[in-house]
Amino acid sequence: MREYAIATIPADGIGPEVIAAGTTVLASLEKRLGDIKFNVENFDWGSDYYKKNGVMMPTDGLQQLKKFDAIYFGAVGAPDVPDHITLWGLRLPICQGFDQYANVRPTKILPGITPPLRNCGPGDLDWVIVRENSEGEYSGHGGRAHKGLPEEVGTEVSIFTRVGVTRIMRYAFKLAQSRPRKFLTVVTKSNAQRHGMVMWDEIAAEVAAEFPDVTWDKMLVDAMTVRMTLNPKSLDTIVATNLHADILSDLAGALAGSLGVAPTANIDPERRFPSMFEPIHGSAFDITGKGIANPVATFWTAAQMLDHLGEPEASARLMRAVERVTGAGILTPDVGGTATTQEVTDAVVDAIHSSN
Ligand code: NAI
Ligand code: MG
Repeated sequence: MREYAIATIPADGIGPEVIAAGTTVLASLEKRLGDIKFNVENFDWGSDYYKKNGVMMPTDGLQQLKKFDAIYFGAVGAPDVPDHITLWGLRLPICQGFDQYANVRPTKILPGITPPLRNCGPGDLDWVIVRENSEGEYSGHGGRAHKGLPEEVGTEVSIFTRVGVTRIMRYAFKLAQSRPRKFLTVVTKSNAQRHGMVMWDEIAAEVAAEFPDVTWDKMLVDAMTVRMTLNPKSLDTIVATNLHADILSDLAGALAGSLGVAPTANIDPERRFPSMFEPIHGSAFDITGKGIANPVATFWTAAQMLDHLGEPEASARLMRAVERVTGAGILTPDVGGTATTQEVTDAVVDAIHSSN
């Protein structure tokens, strides 16, 4: 029996709904396969915890998480707590504290899902976006002076380090190398941002020399949105800064049909710390408690988690089950269906048990 310790942090909004669906599906995989076991421990951190305790997680939160093999995360954000408090109080300290510097975001059009682009079906859009996840525009540098006065100043400083850029480029080139097309697009903005972004480009070229079998090209981030929309087939693996990839991956999710099907993995490639797996979406106040949150992103990120844990067979089985269910038209309203979270979950559980 191979055992894995999984920390679940459902947190806010639809987070608890989709993580409950995800743990149900993990339990059914356990039953179906018979030789793996997930020891799941739940943490009630998030905005409710903040309202009671004044912090999003306990001060020794990272210490508590350290012993786990992986973290399965829902979403943070509440209508009555400022977003910078919820994000910087829970999700970012985990990503940065555990040096999960590679944020991996696969996108493809799942069977049964009608994407918003005409002439774009399954297979025409199959991307993996690699987001630099430890520095750049979200390094938290900057400040405010003369608050509230007319001369008030606010700065938000992007930090790019040679170590940080080199390691994300290596990760992205390696990932591109592992995919059939061996093709990487490096997203930049070095026309307007002439320091950090020019260094980003230079390091991309240096690292490219280590991967002679990978073809690569470079795109300015604004032009990239056009290429993603008008010529999705021309892309495969993509690497971008923390902010650029944050924006581009929401676009990618939308082009694949919904944010509700877009997964992400926050990876510490050196495996010093647990990595964290989550849907891309947030807490979706507008549908919280209605039982219609799409659990597919949360299932797909569980498949990423299984891959990371060295269980590619379980991962593939889970994705086959998900694709069978979407292909059969069992879909939540965000992707044009009428099914509830529970109905999609039950159908995936059935597919896990009935497929070989
Ligand atoms: P959001 O992702 O929560 O929602 C955007 C739209 O997508 C909404 O109309 C929502 O109903 C829909 N949607 C999202 N996930 C869905 C799902 N699984 N099934 C069906 N529909 C889905 O983004 P929004 O509204 O900008 O942010 C809401 C809160 O979430 C804010 O507090 C924000 O800070 C937080 N947030 C947290 C993230 C995280 O925890 N990683 C990521 C993005 C936002
Ligand atoms: Mg985002």
